[in-house]
Amino acid sequence: MEIIHTINELKARLSHHRSQGQTIGLVPTMGALHEGHASLVRRSVADNDITVVSIFLNPTQFNDKNDLATYPRTLEADCDLLRECGATYAFAPSVEEVYPEPDTRQFSYPPTDTVMEGAMRPGHFNGVCQIVSKLFMMTEPTRAYFGEKDYQQIAVIRRMVDDLGFALEIVPCPVIREESGLAKSSRNMLLSDSERQIAAHIYRALHESKSLIDRMSVSEVHDHVVAQINAVDGLEVQYFSIVDGLTLVDIQSWDEAQSVVGCITVYCGEKLIRLIDHIRYK
Ligand code: PAF
Repeated sequence: MEIIHTINELKARLSHHRSQGQTIGLVPTMGALHEGHASLVRRSVADNDITVVSIFLNPTQFNDKNDLATYPRTLEADCDLLRECGATYAFAPSVEEVYPEPDTRQFSYPPTDTVMEGAMRPGHFNGVCQIVSKLFMMTEPTRAYFGEKDYQQIAVIRRMVDDLGFALEIVPCPVIREESGLAKSSRNMLLSDSERQIAAHIYRALHESKSLIDRMSVSEVHDHVVAQINAVDGLEVQYFSIVDGLTLVDIQSWDEAQSVVGCITVYCGEKLIRLIDHIRYK
């Protein structure tokens, strides 16, 4: 696997592969890679001739400077994992390489980017669209792979792909969980062992709530999940929204939408690590 740091070099390599008729898979990441990322890379390696994994901690999607400062950085271990998974290139540019000038582009895809994470983290999805659109322009991938853990992010990126007419396929990949059920996330590295155990209650409550939808209303299930998680010392729900799985708009009754998803963000431990998860009700 080759590590590339500049856009020019990346483009030169990929235009050679394209001229040979080879397909290109892109896996965008911010580093601190774990089994969840590895599953995306393996899927891309299986689907495509060439796999590019970008490792770029994108500053424009962080509305909280402390969150950016404490985000884990593990480039060497990341590259070891990518080699094991069979990636062709790791693309690890500097901030100056990606943003030689401030990116003033504005992306707006309401309600998809204004609810939930969009409401809690103003500007977050604008930053995600800035970097993902740049990565799409640099790599012109055949397919791009995203983890379903960030359910809302995929919905926003799909809107951007339609809006800007990128000719590529978005491939959503299932959440990878620890044995306890906790969704794998780079942020889990910031949790102590006991916080990890506590955090497992998030998925437990979500999973158990699936069995309640035949006898409880949407708002009753909502309140039940929030109460269960908040009852655990060290956990505090920031929001839990039960939404139409396509539009991400809140629903009031179970038969209002064909696909229904519960999206949650929970603060965990003294450092208030934000953990995101979701459950598909139907
Ligand atoms: O999901 C992430 O890790 C990031 O939001 C992404 C898609 C790599 C853009 O920086």
